[in-house]
Amino acid sequence: MPLSSLTQLLHHALQTADYGQEPPELYDPVRYIMALGGKRVRPLLVLLGAHLYADDVTAVAPAALAVEIFHNFTLVHDDLMDAAPLRRGQPTVHHRWNPNTAILSGDVMLVRAYEQLFRHVPDQHLRRALALFSTCAAEVCEGQQLDMVFETLTDVTVADYLRMIRLKTAVLLGFALELGGILQGATDADAAHLRAFGEGVGVAFQLRDDLLDVYGDAATFGKQVGGDILAAKKTFLLLTAQQQLPPADQAQLAALLAATDLASAEKVSRVTALYDQVQIRPQTEALIERTYADALAHLDAVSVAAARKITLRHLTDELMDRAS
Ligand code: IPE
Ligand code: IPE
Ligand code: MG
Ligand code: MG
Ligand code: MG
Repeated sequence: MPLSSLTQLLHHALQTADYGQEPPELYDPVRYIMALGGKRVRPLLVLLGAHLYADDVTAVAPAALAVEIFHNFTLVHDDLMDAAPLRRGQPTVHHRWNPNTAILSGDVMLVRAYEQLFRHVPDQHLRRALALFSTCAAEVCEGQQLDMVFETLTDVTVADYLRMIRLKTAVLLGFALELGGILQGATDADAAHLRAFGEGVGVAFQLRDDLLDVYGDAATFGKQVGGDILAAKKTFLLLTAQQQLPPADQAQLAALLAATDLASAEKVSRVTALYDQVQIRPQTEALIERTYADALAHLDAVSVAAARKITLRHLTDELMDRAS
């Protein structure tokens, strides 16, 4: 199955998904966010993890859909927590409807994700799949909580940040790849390498997201540029600038982040100018490359022929350079 067939399989699963009908106030936002598109990275990782072991991965499509529903649930709640106005170039659920809708429609998506797994994962894999999914989902919540706690702290380290993004973002990519592998009979050793590879890709992916939040093009990024600066998110960019700027500029950076009397665009452009002063952009790019290179050792260690890994490798290579 080439990548286009996997994409088509996923497309069909998304098109035919039934999230529920009544009341429409609950399910319309679910259909809205699911139809907004996005890169569909995580369900593709499920399919590609499976495709390492089998040519026909049709049976894995429901699990891939479950992972994409879960991801979209996290986005609906994340946008509420981050007070984000835009997602995939369109209004976020809490902006288009209201915060309570974002909470409840998000909740039912989490339920549907579980349902999708327990209905469609074969019995011999079900307990393990649900256990891994539960661990992963709780870790995402832990990461999201740390992300919010860090907004108000001033002594966050790069190590803290890396731990936080592993939880809020990377474990889901790791789970997606591992789940796909397990469903098609990956050994325990392979499953561990798949998870580690997915997590490494996930850390690099979140670093890129944080970079795009500052340096991305609003039209292609689909989210408000500068949102992380406005929320004082403790990203690698901010933490590195805090460490490396001369003391006077460090004080200026802290004052800018705390300022309440500054227009948003002004705040973002002045913080970005301080980032530029210490070459934050190439430093972040370098960390992305190092993280990805380390992760690739785990893909190499997966015990299937190199030819079977080409499609997966192609997708992750592209992800590392993404602009949206
Ligand atoms: C957004 O994920 C949340 C992060 C972990 C950065 P994606 O960038 O995969 O979002 P979509 O699904 O493609 O819109
Ligand atoms: C993403 O973090 C984490 C989750 C959605 C779990 P961000 O807050 O950076 O994601 P975006 O930038 O809003 O997509
Ligand atoms: Mg966000
Ligand atoms: Mg967030
Ligand atoms: Mg972001």
